Amino acid sequence: MMVKSSIDVPVLWEKAASRIVSNRYRKILVLGGTDRGKSTFCGYLSNMILESGREVAYVDADVGQKDIGPPATITLGYPGLLSGLDEISPFALYFVGSVSPEGHLLPMVVGTKRMVDASRVPFIVINTTGLIHQTGRVLKGYKIELIRPDVIVAIERSNELKSIIRQYRNHRIIRIEPSARAAPKDIDDRRKRREKAFARYFEKAAEVVLETDRLIFQRSLLFSGKRIDEGGGIYREITSEGVITVCEKSLMEHDHRRNLVAGFEKNLLCGLGNWKNYCIGLGIIIKIEFDSGRIRMITPVEKEKIKIIQPGDLYIEPSGKEIGRKSPGNL
Ligand SMILES: Nc1ncnc2c1ncn2[C@@H]1O[C@H](COP(=O)(O)OP(=O)(O)O)[C@@H](O)[C@H]1O
Ligand SMILES: [Mg+2]
Repeated sequence: MMVKSSIDVPVLWEKAASRIVSNRYRKILVLGGTDRGKSTFCGYLSNMILESGREVAYVDADVGQKDIGPPATITLGYPGLLSGLDEISPFALYFVGSVSPEGHLLPMVVGTKRMVDASRVPFIVINTTGLIHQTGRVLKGYKIELIRPDVIVAIERSNELKSIIRQYRNHRIIRIEPSARAAPKDIDDRRKRREKAFARYFEKAAEVVLETDRLIFQRSLLFSGKRIDEGGGIYREITSEGVITVCEKSLMEHDHRRNLVAGFEKNLLCGLGNWKNYCIGLGIIIKIEFDSGRIRMITPVEKEKIKIIQPGDLYIEPSGKEIGRKSPGNL
């Protein structure tokens, strides 16, 4: 893989990579806070594995600052000797629904495991988010327990990973320092990078119209029940957890959580799946037409392949612009 020739390779990075390659540690989980150089190290390590004559899979679980594929997903790609990470198109993906793990721990661990299992080669470099304290510490712990990596590479400057390392010190851990050239990106930079990655993903997207009756909705209570015609509102449905109503804001009864305000779906980012429940891409809902039972969305995925819709918690425009977030699990 083309690693920027300009990168700085500290001695410990080189030692870590040659130890991993020569001992054939195959599942490599890379941990570190934001901007410590996780992506840079993962790229370097992938390259060292390739140069040793082996294939390598890259699982990118950093949902906010992706190396491969669109944000809000965990992806699996195969780096090659001649391509940069950002040129790799994902071989498989899993929709997390958010650009941060907070409130999304389950899809984070499920998705990472699914992508690791989908790899068809033994060497797997796993990159993670920079969230390492509190929720992040808990998430990393469960990831370690589920993935059972052969080695954990901990990139830390001043013991910030200590609590994770201590709790999992029965595992093989290689500690390395960040490069002196590791430089922070500010919140604006991060948002812009996500915007660009989304824009790139939706570049060739088109509008599709789908029939809600012929789709499976997952991760939402909405569309899990049966439509009822009595009562007011734009749409009513009876589910095993009660009635859901979609109505105009002015007609909202208090703030009952089973009431959805018309327009709640506009610009909502969704994961799209096939019958095997494999994620096949992303879509942005334009509108759900409850009268005619149709859903209009923007997606690069072929209409015929879409069988499953998984609403996420992020509102974006096809230009990549993030326009809002909703609290998880309120659909
Ligand atoms: N070894 C290195 N050599 C040169 N630049 C580096 C190195 N490590 C990190 N950087 C720079 O620091 C910034 C953050 O690194 P990155 O790998 O994106 O961190 P992370 O993935 O942990 O957020 C990037 O601009 C990257 O180019
Ligand atoms: Mg990164």
